[in-house]
Amino acid sequence: MKFLRSFLLSFLLLTGFNYAFCQNAGGKLLTGQLAPKPPMGWNTWNTFQTKINENMLKEMVDVYVNSGMRDAGYQYFVLDDGWMTMERDQNGSLVADPVKFPNGMKAFADYVHAKGLKFGIYNCAGSKTCAGYPGTRGHEYEDARLYASWGVDFLKYDWCNTDSLNAPEAYKTMSAALRATGRPIVFSICEWGDHKPWLWAGGIGELYRSTGDISASFTLRKPVGNWTPQSVLSILDLQEAIRKYNGPNHWNDPDMLEVGNGMSVVEDKSHFSLWCMLAAPLAAGNDLRKMTAQTREILTNKEMIDIDQDERGIAAFKMMMPDSLELWVKPLKNNELALCFFNRTGNTKKIDLNWKNLNISDQQSGLDVHFDKQVFTLRDAWTKKNMGKTDKKLELSLDSHDVLVLRLKPAH
Ligand code: GLA
Repeated sequence: MKFLRSFLLSFLLLTGFNYAFCQNAGGKLLTGQLAPKPPMGWNTWNTFQTKINENMLKEMVDVYVNSGMRDAGYQYFVLDDGWMTMERDQNGSLVADPVKFPNGMKAFADYVHAKGLKFGIYNCAGSKTCAGYPGTRGHEYEDARLYASWGVDFLKYDWCNTDSLNAPEAYKTMSAALRATGRPIVFSICEWGDHKPWLWAGGIGELYRSTGDISASFTLRKPVGNWTPQSVLSILDLQEAIRKYNGPNHWNDPDMLEVGNGMSVVEDKSHFSLWCMLAAPLAAGNDLRKMTAQTREILTNKEMIDIDQDERGIAAFKMMMPDSLELWVKPLKNNELALCFFNRTGNTKKIDLNWKNLNISDQQSGLDVHFDKQVFTLRDAWTKKNMGKTDKKLELSLDSHDVLVLRLKPAH
């Protein structure tokens, strides 16, 4: 009885309560409920930092559409730090930098919307943003109203210069401010995992950064001036422990993509694959105007994107295979699964797998596959070729840093 009572209570808290909390009187879904699938978009930061301007960004919007990014599922166009003037105006309002945005932010947002995209912007919970622009602390409701009046659909909210602020409370305040505008605005929590957002971000924001900033380095963390950003693999290695918190409307965000920003094509492909396996938000961060055909192929690979966007929203877990090979496993809808064989070593490795000897189980998702009892068809998500079934051995070699991603469907 006691168990039943606490079960019912948790159920109400997790569903009904959150649901009521996130809806306005008209029944429209608002902040906290707006991303049943990992959000996909493009963000200025990884390539441009604060060196942005309207003309260059309009070109980017045009290429976003013409290159097929929009049709592949990317939706948000997000301005990161550096879009505003160094001071608020005499009324306390934020001002879009008139040199960078001579036509104002509303006009730019209209341009983005006219192309069938959604518009995102950045600020910070502290007194100043990380690049020293005015932060939102103490201005939450007025800033939220300003964003809504511009047509903002997504807010990335950082954590610099926050002194002794309490992270869950600060993010809760901004979330409530966004909701109070009545406009659906996705809330992207960016406190770098410092206060374990996976434990409290659900219902407050739709996605939460779980690590420090990524850089375009696959293995090594390379110092930049007086700090050391993360690498693709250092971020990857922090993900498994928190996978159980990931899911629809509360996505763990291992940071934006560095595809097309200087790693090798193989590393770009693996970075993208692993982020899709993690059910991560996919925010491209390259100069779309200069992207090579290979970069475009990686970013718009529909079969990988389908794995990322699978409606179950389950992040992959890792199994170790012989010879230091990793096998990442992501349970998908309809009893399908994605398998990503990953070679993080410096040498070419052989995959020599007799499926019949493999069992895969995962308590969290209820996955329990015994390949000696059940046969699956195999499809390579990169070559986009069918690869037979699990009734034959899988034998091939995998280059250093490369992945093989297979989608498995129960064979009938
Ligand atoms: C922090 C964030 C980055 C970026 C910069 C902007 O470092 O983690 O993603 O937004 O601030 O200054």
